[in-house]
Amino acid sequence: MNNWIHIDQHVKQWLKEARNAILTSLQTKLAIDTKANANDLVTNVDKETEQFFVHNIHSHYPTHRIIGEEGFGDIIETLDGIVWLIDPIDGTMNFVHQKRNFFISIGIYENGVGKLGYLYDVILDELYYAIAGEGAYFNDVKLPLLQEGRIEEAIIGLNPFWIGSVSKVGNDSSKAFISLLNDVRGTRSYGSAAMELAYVASGRMDAYISMSLSPWDYAAGKIIIEELGGIVTNIAGEEINILEKSSILAARPGVHGVILDRYLKNL
Ligand code: IPD
Ligand code: CA
Ligand code: CA
Repeated sequence: MNNWIHIDQHVKQWLKEARNAILTSLQTKLAIDTKANANDLVTNVDKETEQFFVHNIHSHYPTHRIIGEEGFGDIIETLDGIVWLIDPIDGTMNFVHQKRNFFISIGIYENGVGKLGYLYDVILDELYYAIAGEGAYFNDVKLPLLQEGRIEEAIIGLNPFWIGSVSKVGNDSSKAFISLLNDVRGTRSYGSAAMELAYVASGRMDAYISMSLSPWDYAAGKIIIEELGGIVTNIAGEEINILEKSSILAARPGVHGVILDRYLKNL
C-alpha cells in the first residue's frame, strides 16, 4: 500500500520551496523563449521549476514516473504504477506579462486512477488540493461538495481564442454558442487552466470549457473537482484519457449536463 499522506507532505513542502525560488527569480530578468508559436512562451523558471520537482520525485520515489510539460520527466506510454503529471507554471503568459495568476499543477495517478491533486496559486500562496476518498481542501479548510447549479445563475470560464475556431458566424454552432453566452450569468477568462479548474472546485465558477488541453493542464484539477462531486469530461461528454490532449468540460452537477445537452452537442 502506498503512503499517500507521506507523499502529500512532500508535495506541500516542495511547493513552498518552489514558491521561494520562483519569487526570487521574479527579482531577476527572465529568459523568455517561444515553443510552438510566437505566443507560446516558456521561461527559465518553467524549466527550473520542473527540474526541481523531477529531481525530488526521482530521489524520493525512484519507481514513480513523471510526465512534465517541459520534457524533464520520463517517456510514458501507459499509466501503470504511479505517474505524476506536472505543469511547473500554468499560465506562463500571465507569469511573463503580469507576474501573477499562474499556478503549479500536480496530479498523481495510480494505475490511471487519480489519487492526489494540487493546484497552487504561487503569488497568493493558496493551495487547492485533494486526497482521493478523503476530501478536498482550500489551504487547510475542507471544501464543501459541489451542489447542483442552474445555467441561468452560472459563471463559466472559457477562452475567447477558440470561439472563432468552433463557431463560424451565422452557422448552427455559432448560434448554439451565442445562446450559451446569453443564457449564463457571466463568463470569465483567466489564462490559466489550473486556476480556472481551481475556481470550479471552490465554487467561484460553475463550469470551465476548453477546446484543447494537455494532460498536465487538467490532471490535478480533474482529481480535485471529482473529489467534490463535480464532473469532468471532454466536450462530447466522454471520459478523458489522461495520456492524451483533450477538450474539457468541468462543472458542478446540473450545469455540466445542461451545457453538454443544450449547447456543446451543437458546436
Ligand atoms: C496554458 C494555459 C491556458 C490554456 C492553454 C494552456 P501554459 O498553459 O493553461 O489557460 O488556455 O491551453 O496551454 O502554456 O501557460 O502552461
Ligand atoms: Ca499549462
Ligand atoms: Ca506550463
